[in-house]
Amino acid sequence: IPVQPFDYVVFGATGDLTKRKLIPALYHRFLDGQFDEKSQIIGASRSQLSDADFQQVARDAVTQFVEKDYQDAGVIDRFVKIFSYVSIDVSKPEEAGDLGKKLREDPKIVRAFYLAVAPDLFEPIAEFLAKKKYYRRDARVVIEKPLGHDLASSVEINDGIAKIFNEDQVYRIDHYLGKETVQNLLALRFANALFEPIWNSAHIDHVQLTVSESVGAGTRGYYDESGALRDMIQNHMLQLLCLVAMEPPASDDADALRDEKLKVLRALRPITNGEVSTKTVRGQYRGVKSETAAVAGYQEELPDDKKGSRTETFVALKAEIENWRWSGVPFYMRTGKRMASRVSEICIQFKPIPHSIFDHAEGAPRPNKLIIRLQPDEGVKLMMMIKDPGPGGMRLREVPLNLSFAQQFTERTPEAYERLLLDVIRGNQTLFMRRDELEAAWRWVDPIREAWNHANEPPQPYSAGTWGPSGSIALIERDGRTWYEEN
Ligand code: BG6
Repeated sequence: IPVQPFDYVVFGATGDLTKRKLIPALYHRFLDGQFDEKSQIIGASRSQLSDADFQQVARDAVTQFVEKDYQDAGVIDRFVKIFSYVSIDVSKPEEAGDLGKKLREDPKIVRAFYLAVAPDLFEPIAEFLAKKKYYRRDARVVIEKPLGHDLASSVEINDGIAKIFNEDQVYRIDHYLGKETVQNLLALRFANALFEPIWNSAHIDHVQLTVSESVGAGTRGYYDESGALRDMIQNHMLQLLCLVAMEPPASDDADALRDEKLKVLRALRPITNGEVSTKTVRGQYRGVKSETAAVAGYQEELPDDKKGSRTETFVALKAEIENWRWSGVPFYMRTGKRMASRVSEICIQFKPIPHSIFDHAEGAPRPNKLIIRLQPDEGVKLMMMIKDPGPGGMRLREVPLNLSFAQQFTERTPEAYERLLLDVIRGNQTLFMRRDELEAAWRWVDPIREAWNHANEPPQPYSAGTWGPSGSIALIERDGRTWYEEN
């Protein structure tokens, strides 16, 4: 469904996020006819560029970051024409280019500001917009992590934005919520009658959330200040946990859903100083060398002034949700860089059968598992026990009931930003984090970091290309469980 025409102003127009994610995402939506030349994308940054220069930036971004099969010369020509540029340094408002000349006053044209800049610029930009009268009560502002490095700094960022924008105008991106399979979790849980009755501590033994990446992090400028807890757990992984654990909302209204997620975050049991060594593991990858290849460790990748850093590139932890539905059901989470492969996956492990009649069978019944694979090879698998075919007596085997999205659907899977950028225009905040959610997530994460600081221990080493430090295996095995890994 096409969206209303819009004026999308992108601050940080020449940055990496704009080129790699925003422009390619907008191109795909344009290609699909969800908007056309009645809309404008206005780049803003400190650089002195002409409209033509910025159109070239857009063209390059499409040729570089959009899959070749989708690059259509005619469409690209039309697409880049909707791009224009103003040079703005918000610290010098008197010298700023005239954005007012480009913005259209017609209230039917949606006005959105995407702040693809560092968070310390959010407040100055918001104030600049107000001062210059570019702000409108129905305008929208889009911001993205890092939204603080702890609760206090996150409150400060939110307060800065809130000086000008109301909460119903603020779209906080967590790009995991824009992923197709993440949204599919909602469909799986709330469009099927099958799962909900067993979605609780009476039937579920535990839940595992894994987001592993094979890429390294030492050369990414921001990463060393952040670490895996802030970079992945505080946002993406807690959002996944919320979608798995929340109560059914009463409707698909944005606040109905976000209220339920918030309740989960608030019910997370705090991890105390005393528990941090048994409930969390932090790791850092080491390089590996073989005769044929070598992978650098985090330390080797870091610039000289950061060497010796104790930043964690891996975290595993055991979270508990203190409510009726989940009492006694641990949620194990792990995420890291330079791990064995790139996988994002949720594994819901059900309780074992109460009594086995298969004393004389080969192979014991294993508990059912529901595996929701977010990437790659998106799909849902239900691991079930069957009788191995054949006349040779009862042999039990675990097999997947497999729903592979690639096999089921031929459509291309849209990137997260495609959905999210247009949801801003649609005025739909469902897939964006509300302020209280963000702050509740920090409230749970901060004590973990403080406890680590207090313990003052170095991260456990793990070899690049593995599933993390041995401590993470111990973390789950101590409870008599193991990490799910597809074999
Ligand atoms: C980002 C993190 O938010 O998510 C990165 O800052 C991480 O460190 C990325 O690599 C992972 O996203 P995706 O979509 O590739 O799973």
